Amino acid sequence: MDKKVEKTLKKLEETGHEFWIIPHETGEFLNNLIREKNIKCVLEVGTSIGYSGIWMAEALSHTGGKLYTLESHNERFEKAKNHFEEAGLTKYITQLKGHAPDIEIPDMFDLLFLDATKIEYVSYIKTFLFHMKKGGVIVADNAISHRKELAEYEKYIFNSPQLKSELNTLGTGIFISTII
Ligand SMILES: C[S@@+](CC[C@H](N)C(=O)[O-])C[C@H]1O[C@@H](n2cnc3c(N)ncnc32)[C@H](O)[C@@H]1O
Repeated sequence: MDKKVEKTLKKLEETGHEFWIIPHETGEFLNNLIREKNIKCVLEVGTSIGYSGIWMAEALSHTGGKLYTLESHNERFEKAKNHFEEAGLTKYITQLKGHAPDIEIPDMFDLLFLDATKIEYVSYIKTFLFHMKKGGVIVADNAISHRKELAEYEKYIFNSPQLKSELNTLGTGIFISTII
């Protein structure tokens, strides 16, 4: 991994916890998933200060892909912009400012990463499913740490005939759903 990327990730791991960043192992998982599946187009809901975005954009720099990442909070949006610059990954990232799911989405995606307001996950998936390619993957964070808030989401993904879903205990827990 490039030194600038490593340095920025390390800095955010040391200083970024008040911004609810994902655990290191979840970042590593997303990075490997993108590389192994040769994923080209990713949508993230919940940029915060850009930690998970850096993990994913680093992998996309190898697959020749692109990350679209969405954040509604001005200050965190700007912090993320600086961190993406520091990591030297700006050209793989398009930052979108707004409140999901009420936002124009410019593309079709192979990976959707949900890490925003937990009780809104159902509204995100219902909207963004129309922007997912067949065989695409949806990863939703906090499956274990926020299981109560995600109860509706869990019910939705395990009952949808369009999805094959599993619970993975990595980090704070992730739901992984594949579009079938
Ligand atoms: C858990 S943090 C994201 C952490 C980030 N994924 C990381 O690991 O570096 C959640 C972020 O989602 C943003 N957010 C919450 N609800 C949102 C919504 N409906 N649309 C856009 N952003 C939202 C919050 O402002 C917050 O910065």
